[in-house]
Amino acid sequence: MEEACLTCPDARQLASWKRLAGLAADPSQPTIAELLEDASRSCALQLEAGGLLFDFSKQRLSRKALAELLRLAQERQWRARVADLFQGAPVNSSEGRAALHSALRAPPARQPPAIGAEVAANLERLKRFAAELAEGRRTGFSGKAFAQVVHIGIGGSELGPRLAVEALQPAGRGLPVRFVANVDGHALAQALDGLDPETTLFIVVSKSFATLETRLNAQSARRWFLERARSPQALARHFIAVTANAQAAADFGLPRQNVFPIWDWVGGRFSLWSAAGLCIALALGGEAFDALLAGAHAMDRHFQEAPAAANAPLLAALIGIWNGNFLGATSQAVLPYDERLRLLPDYLQQLETESNGKRVRRDGAPLEIHSTPILWGGVGSTGQHAFHQWLHQGTHGCAVDFILTGAAEHDLPEHHRWLLANGLSQAKALAFGAEHADPHRAVPGNRPSTTIILDRLDPARLGALLAFYEHRTFCQGLIWNLNSFDQWGVELGKRLAESLFEQLGGAVAEDQDASTRALIERLRERTPATESGE
Ligand code: F6P
Repeated sequence: MEEACLTCPDARQLASWKRLAGLAADPSQPTIAELLEDASRSCALQLEAGGLLFDFSKQRLSRKALAELLRLAQERQWRARVADLFQGAPVNSSEGRAALHSALRAPPARQPPAIGAEVAANLERLKRFAAELAEGRRTGFSGKAFAQVVHIGIGGSELGPRLAVEALQPAGRGLPVRFVANVDGHALAQALDGLDPETTLFIVVSKSFATLETRLNAQSARRWFLERARSPQALARHFIAVTANAQAAADFGLPRQNVFPIWDWVGGRFSLWSAAGLCIALALGGEAFDALLAGAHAMDRHFQEAPAAANAPLLAALIGIWNGNFLGATSQAVLPYDERLRLLPDYLQQLETESNGKRVRRDGAPLEIHSTPILWGGVGSTGQHAFHQWLHQGTHGCAVDFILTGAAEHDLPEHHRWLLANGLSQAKALAFGAEHADPHRAVPGNRPSTTIILDRLDPARLGALLAFYEHRTFCQGLIWNLNSFDQWGVELGKRLAESLFEQLGGAVAEDQDASTRALIERLRERTPATESGE
């Protein structure tokens, strides 16, 4: 098993890690501007994968550093670990689970035999459901066609589907989708505002069907619906669940045929490829959903087959390690120069930080090195008038990913050319900076970035882009030797909220610390009595 072949759990003890530390400390290491004088280096650091172009040449990465990073991947036996991932080994070691989300987007011939038939059958079922709805063969309780979808879910059960729908729907022809994630009642009230219960389909996505926010939103949505439909039988025409917890969906009142599965081996933040993405098929059509899966699969193939030096997710991961662990970058910014990708930073933030925001190794020993820096970002060009000042002249190191789209879907070509010019100019300004006699005006430069180009934003390219980031995350986790597939850190807060909920409602709060007790009292004075919602 993979654990046994990992001879050096502490990355700092690897020969390549030590050499990388030496290179990073060398004051004579070349600047990005100097590195860019080497045209053949730039050429080697620009590569195509899954229909996307990756330009890593504006990284502060000499040939020597790159060679050591590739040795680091070798020392970590990355090929064998990738094989473990795709073959369904229990890479989520703390929960004894596989992470086989890649199987959801593989054609039947490339699926692990044990799950292939079930995956294919469920994908067919999902597309059939979408087609029946689109063709009016599946209607609401009064016989009217569905005109609106409300997707209820949070975290991985919302961010991915929402990103895909919001990025791709301008080109789609299907149903509009509203998303509700937050337990904040404003979110549900806003989503339900003006809806016609006769033509609204609710999809409740929750792998566990136990997540507080989703449970409460689903219950309140069901109440809203039943108050209007006035027929309990109507529920089954209007509510669908996507979950691994079929019993909880049944308890919610849904018959078996209204439940789509999520399997144990699909982590929440990797679930948009499953029926969690049902709303994608409803909004964009089954073919678009297929294309999204095919694009991700193309990136899976690239990741499994391309040599290390030309492997986009692996290179991006190694560069991230170089920037974060050796060059002092304290964050990773993702800046899509495409308004349609505005949710991408949020989506990737969950992917990266839930996966690799860890402090212990796989064997439970302290990590002793930094794991993932915070990932954040925002859409260009608006960010230029907000946080780019910090990028260019701030004191924290930050690595930036620029994402540019070649072809736009609007007829304002001048806007698009300016958008692209701005994206390119920002990467250049970060790399080269500008001298100035007045230190307030000088821009230091030598700040690293990667540029990713999508020739156009379509389902296949979006699928490839998201799979690229998934694999980058996986590779970083394997270099740090942590478990990228659990998220125990989020549990404590959920547990503490249970008693706080009761105490905000009036229960004695003596077990609380002085600070929290005072805050509870202050809020109690101002909050109207709450119903339990159960
Ligand atoms: O709280 C974290 C988390 O478990 C995420 O990992 C997950 O994506 C989200 O909550 C939603 O979980 P579920 O799909 O079980 O409702």
